[in-house]
Amino acid sequence: MEGAQPKQKLFSAVQPSGAVTIGNYIGAIRNFAVLQDEYDCLYAVADLHAITVRQEPAVLRRNTLELLALFIACGIDPEKCVLFVQSHVPAHCELTWVLNTIAYLGELSRMTQFKDKSARHAENVNMGLMDYPVLMASDILLYQAALVPVGADQKQHLELTRDLAVRFNNRYGSTFTVPEPFIPKGSGARVMSLADPSRKMSKSDENPNAFVTMSDDRDTVLRKFKRAVTDSDAEVRYDPENKPGVSNLLTIYCAFTGRDTAEAEREFAGKGYGDFKLAVGEAVADVLDPIRAEKARLLADKGYLNAVMKRGEEAAARIARRTLSKVYRKVGFYAGE
Ligand code: TRP
Repeated sequence: MEGAQPKQKLFSAVQPSGAVTIGNYIGAIRNFAVLQDEYDCLYAVADLHAITVRQEPAVLRRNTLELLALFIACGIDPEKCVLFVQSHVPAHCELTWVLNTIAYLGELSRMTQFKDKSARHAENVNMGLMDYPVLMASDILLYQAALVPVGADQKQHLELTRDLAVRFNNRYGSTFTVPEPFIPKGSGARVMSLADPSRKMSKSDENPNAFVTMSDDRDTVLRKFKRAVTDSDAEVRYDPENKPGVSNLLTIYCAFTGRDTAEAEREFAGKGYGDFKLAVGEAVADVLDPIRAEKARLLADKGYLNAVMKRGEEAAARIARRTLSKVYRKVGFYAGE
């Protein structure tokens, strides 16, 4: 179309490291589908990142396919965006090597997530764990992405990506787009644990009732919400300070129904917590049921999933190659005459 602006590039990725919670869905995956019309989107299954902590090979292989199917079931259209598996595109590792030579030990050892994970996996503080943010920078910079939707826990890694891009550009001349963090509308809701609303909902919680995953069936979802902690008065009111449990349930209810807090409060005025928790569970299950069914259908069609991956790999590799060649030239690698 004449005069049409080229769309901005947007990159994001999720690790195939097991269950995906409704927090990941609300905060990230749901928005991936919304963004695909407005931006040139690339979405990856970050399997190279996943092996920085110990994985069972057969489980990692399965989780990779499951996450790809979940992306599509959540509305990501492989015809509209580039959907691929990170390890299928060798340029991610190749660019990581080059960026490693301008990344400082000091800045990597100061990353909050590295410090947390080193403490949690004290028996396995490997170089990959430390290098994780450089690999993430490579993911983003290879595609010249302008925008990166990230949650709060990845903000620091995006800052490092920007620092590396600027450092490289200053040393070797303009090469990389310096990306901006992107917080899409409606992704701000922070979903907390159903058992302890002072903590973020996490799939690694030892209490399985604390989190709801995208593969939980209707009965499981309803049971988990029925057990969610509330408080001793009986008013459904949004007040995170004094009523963290109820407020978290309201947040979830609004995120899954599109209602605002005031509407939801009015809806439950005079009703007890039993009715309220059932309604929240039903709202969540109503969204999850069709996604789960579609994911199962896709997983039964491996031929289709393999074809999607192949196409994504080719499209991603083409863009990545271009950036990597430029980088190799700039750093002085001899490419023949
Ligand atoms: N590290 C991210 C996470 O665990 C996943 C990820 C890998 C990512 N590469 C990325 C996110 C590039 C955004 C951009 O959430």
